[in-house]
Amino acid sequence: MESMTLRASSSTAAPLHRLPSRRAAVSVRASSGASEPDLSVRVNGLKMPNPFVIGSGPPGTNYTVMKRAFDEGWGAVIAKTVSLDAEKVINVTPRYARLRADPNGATKSPIIGWQNIELISDRPLETMLNEFKQLKKEYPDRILIGSIMEEYNKAAWHELIERVEESGVDALEINFSCPHGMPERKMGAAVGQDCDLLEEVCGWINEKATVPVWAKMTPNITDITQPARVSLKSGCEGVSAINTIMSVMGINLKTLRPEPCVEGYSTPGGYSARAVHPIALAKVMQIARMMKEEFSDGQSLSAIGGVETGNDAAEFILLGADTVQVCTGVMMHGYGLVKKLCSELQDFMRQHNFSSVEDFRGSSLPYFTTHTDLVHRQQEAIKQRKAIRKGLASDKDWTGDGFIKETESMVSN
Ligand SMILES: Cc1cc2nc3c(=O)[nH]c(=O)nc-3n(C[C@H](O)[C@H](O)[C@H](O)COP(=O)(O)O)c2cc1C
Repeated sequence: MESMTLRASSSTAAPLHRLPSRRAAVSVRASSGASEPDLSVRVNGLKMPNPFVIGSGPPGTNYTVMKRAFDEGWGAVIAKTVSLDAEKVINVTPRYARLRADPNGATKSPIIGWQNIELISDRPLETMLNEFKQLKKEYPDRILIGSIMEEYNKAAWHELIERVEESGVDALEINFSCPHGMPERKMGAAVGQDCDLLEEVCGWINEKATVPVWAKMTPNITDITQPARVSLKSGCEGVSAINTIMSVMGINLKTLRPEPCVEGYSTPGGYSARAVHPIALAKVMQIARMMKEEFSDGQSLSAIGGVETGNDAAEFILLGADTVQVCTGVMMHGYGLVKKLCSELQDFMRQHNFSSVEDFRGSSLPYFTTHTDLVHRQQEAIKQRKAIRKGLASDKDWTGDGFIKETESMVSN
C-alpha cells in the first residue's frame, strides 16, 4: 500500500517494479475542482488520463503513429506485437476483408466486421525498440506498453523481455492469442489455447519481467476463464480480452474463391470491429466474474472488441474492465476518435452522476446469473404480482379497521 501511495503522488509514469505493483482502486480527481466527470484511471500502478488504450495492431506499428496517438490524447498505447526475429514474419497482401451491414455489401453501407490475416510486426526488433525509447523520452508521463510474442523457448522469452524492458516500456502485454500464422510456429493462440503450455510460458515470463504483465486472451476457446485464471495464478498482473475471433470472411461468388484472396487462395483470419462487440462483452463478463470470485490482489482487466463509441466502452467498464482497447475502430475512424470516446463516456457519466470511472466499474456484473435462477426469479415475480393484483376477492371482505389499507391495495399508482 505504501508504494502505491508513493506512485500515486508521482507525476511521472516511471516503469514500475512488480512485486508491490497493484492497481489502486481509486481514480484521481482533477485538481481544478471542475465538475467534469474524471476519466483518469490508475491500473497496476500506471496512471492514465483516460481508460482508452490503443490496442496492439496497425495503430501502434511505428513511431509516427504512436506519437500521433499520444498527441491526440489516448490514455495509453500498446505497440504492435514484436518478436526477436522479424525476418521470420512475412506478410501478404491483401490481408484485410470487410463485412458491410447491407446484405449485398453496398459500399456506402457501414462496415460492421473486419477480418485480417496480418501477422505480428515485420519490422526489425532493434528499430521498434529505438522507437519505444524515443517515445518514452518525448512522453515520459504517458503509458507505453510493449506487446510481445516468442516461440516455445525460455531463453528466447527472457531475451525478448529484457530487451523490450530496456527500451523503457511501462508494462508488457503478452500476445497469447494471434489466431493465424503464428500458431504454426507454436506461438500466439497455440499457447493461449493450451493451459499447460500457458502455465509454463507464464512462469518463464513472470520470473523475468519487472514491469506489470497483461496476458492477452484468445476467444477461440470453449472456456476463456481457464487461460485467464492460469495466467493470473502464474503471476500476471492483468488479462486483456479479446483478440480476434477465427473467421472466414466470405466466398466470392463470381470467382468461387475465399476472401481475402492471395494468389487465388486464402486462410482463416481474425474477426474484429462492431460485429464482435457482443461476443467480447460475454467473454469479458465471464473473466470479470471469475476475477471477482478468485482474485483480489488488484489484478486488472483490459477489455477489447468492437469499440467505436463511449457507450461501447461504458458497457465494458460496467462489467468490470479497468481499461478499454481500440484497434479496428482507429483503423476506420482515425486517432481523433479518442476525443469522441472521452466526451461520450463523460456524457454517460453525467447522466448517472458518476464522477469517476471507479464509481461505476463493475456495477452491472452482479446482474448476471444462471438461466435456472432467471426462471426462479420470474416465477417469484409472477406470484407477487398476482398477490398484489388480487386486492380483495369480494366486497364482503372489506373491514372497518383495515379499510384504508384495503382501499390502497386496489389503487394502480
Ligand atoms: C489488422 C489487425 C492487426 C492486429 N495485430 C495484432 C497484433 O499484432 N497483436 C495483438 O495482440 N493483437 C492484434 N490485433 C488484435 C487487436 O488488438 C484486437 O484484439 C482485436 O482486433 C479486437 O479489437 P477491435 O475490434 O477493437 O479491433 C490486430 C487486429 C487487427 C484488426
